[in-house]
Amino acid sequence: MCGIVGYIGKKPVVEVLIDGLRKLEYRGYDSSGIAINAGGKIKIYKAEGKLQNLVDVLTKHTEETKTAKIGIGHIRWATHGAPTEINAHPHTCTCGKLVIVHNGIIENFKELKEELIKKGCSFRSQTDTETVAHLIAQEFAQTKDLTQAVRLATKKIQGAYALGVMHQDLPGMLVATKRNAPLLVGIGEGEFFIASDVPAIIEHTKKALYLNDNEVVTLTTEMKLIDAENKKVTPKIEVLPWEPVALSKMGYKHFMLKEIHEQPDVIRNVLSGKLYNIDEPISLKEVKLTKETLKNLHRIQVIACGTSLHAAMVGKYLIEEFCSIPVDVEASSEYIYRKNVTDKNTLVIGVSQSGETADTLTAIKQSKEKGSHILIITNRPDSTMAREADSLVPVSAGIEVSVAATKSYTAQLISFYLLALYMAEVKGSLDEKTLVELKKELIVLPQKLEMILSNKEQIQKCAKAYANHKDFIYIARGINFATALEGALKLKEISYINATGYPAGELKHGPIAMLDETMPVLSILMQGKVYEKLLSNAEEAKARNAKLIALTNSSDKKLDELFDFIIKIPEVDEIFSPVIAAVPLQLLAYYIAEFLGKDVDQPRNLAKSVTVE
Ligand code: G6P
Repeated sequence: MCGIVGYIGKKPVVEVLIDGLRKLEYRGYDSSGIAINAGGKIKIYKAEGKLQNLVDVLTKHTEETKTAKIGIGHIRWATHGAPTEINAHPHTCTCGKLVIVHNGIIENFKELKEELIKKGCSFRSQTDTETVAHLIAQEFAQTKDLTQAVRLATKKIQGAYALGVMHQDLPGMLVATKRNAPLLVGIGEGEFFIASDVPAIIEHTKKALYLNDNEVVTLTTEMKLIDAENKKVTPKIEVLPWEPVALSKMGYKHFMLKEIHEQPDVIRNVLSGKLYNIDEPISLKEVKLTKETLKNLHRIQVIACGTSLHAAMVGKYLIEEFCSIPVDVEASSEYIYRKNVTDKNTLVIGVSQSGETADTLTAIKQSKEKGSHILIITNRPDSTMAREADSLVPVSAGIEVSVAATKSYTAQLISFYLLALYMAEVKGSLDEKTLVELKKELIVLPQKLEMILSNKEQIQKCAKAYANHKDFIYIARGINFATALEGALKLKEISYINATGYPAGELKHGPIAMLDETMPVLSILMQGKVYEKLLSNAEEAKARNAKLIALTNSSDKKLDELFDFIIKIPEVDEIFSPVIAAVPLQLLAYYIAEFLGKDVDQPRNLAKSVTVE
């Protein structure tokens, strides 16, 4: 997380940096700062809080900044040190001439800091980043060469970093490097950019170089690339498959609400080109799983974080149901710190909206080393994870601005339906008639979501009625247990209400102790094999005076008596109900947060792309 941007060229640098940082706000937004070289002097401007605070600071300095043509900028999600102005990047060496921005975590910063203090460096902040500024400055004092100083200093660093570096005495030079954190170089006409992500530069150029780990790029009037051993590397310049993104709310109050409404079209988009015709096989061009590979698979492991983990849980259910292959699902952060018994007969599926989440990336790399086939489901086919993949399922949700994931979740779900059906077709584990029936249901899902979106008043009413509760419990069974977790996560993320999802059968094994008239229990009551069971669990909650909300596609009359509030959604085959059920829960979380006046698109303490472990 954290976003970095840098520029060298002829444009007004402050504008380029601020515009770039605005596009990276999804990576963190607790403080920000820029450094420029103006009239031969390094000038630094920082502000605590949202980017707008930095913009306000800069409007007081337009005279001194207007001629600058080189600069680096940063938007922070605090790891080491509170989100204060002093801890905001850029950071400098003791004399203030060398200045850096950093994304990542320097794991050995304490040891490095002690050594540097002994050598006379004086530290101003509590960050791990400042260590790197001093370290590079020490090397620069010896070599008088900024590229070499960066290369040699980073050899002493343990951890993850993307760095942008400049020096007051070299006003025409920007140096950048990375290890286990994303960084790309944008190549314009007589100008270069560095950025953590494409949106920060795509308005200026479509030509880019993705840095590999440990490469150091030096940008002057030309670009030079070396590796960790100082060997020249020929840059592999790519054309970015992106259009400039207009980050517009299109009349919606928040990006989250806009993105919720985009979901019917997003699903159509995911299906297009992959499911042409219900009588034809699913086409996943970048999936390289042969009948032979599938036959030899002992199991599948799916690894992911956050909302993607919930999509993975639905994916497990689908693959087991359609393909009869055992599937384990695990949080990437747990997967990476235990004995990895993955092998070449295990298919490892990584799910990630951003394709950059550090824990998932590490997990993928570990299993790749064990010889497993790596399949990545991601919204970013240009991401690091996609580059590591043997097989790829692009989810095609389009850019998602709101930190709370909505359309990327439903797009991941649809991708899992497609993948599971594809595997069933290759393996021959479902008969033709069932395949056709499933495909028929899949293609009508967008219309069903449109029905939900045109009937939002019931959800708004529910939100208003329950917004002032401190706790919520979501219950479900079977394929919708993941929906309960995701619904509860949405509510926590944007309203800060304590919400927990449980498999309904577990309620009586502990959580039931919390139930009384102050606790709303929301049941995800979809018609199908666990409907009656879940109904009994809801009765148990009612008997403890809990307030009962049903999210249901049933017209069962007895629900009217049992539930205090009913949100009604269209009928659907149980296997597809996670898609239909996710949307009203997103809306419920949205309206509660909006009703409480929360910062819906940028909730406190969160970031959209978590590139630190
Ligand atoms: C962060 C985001 C979540 C997201 C998770 C995993 O925590 O706030 O919305 O689900 O990272 O991100 P990924 O990009 O790997 O799906």
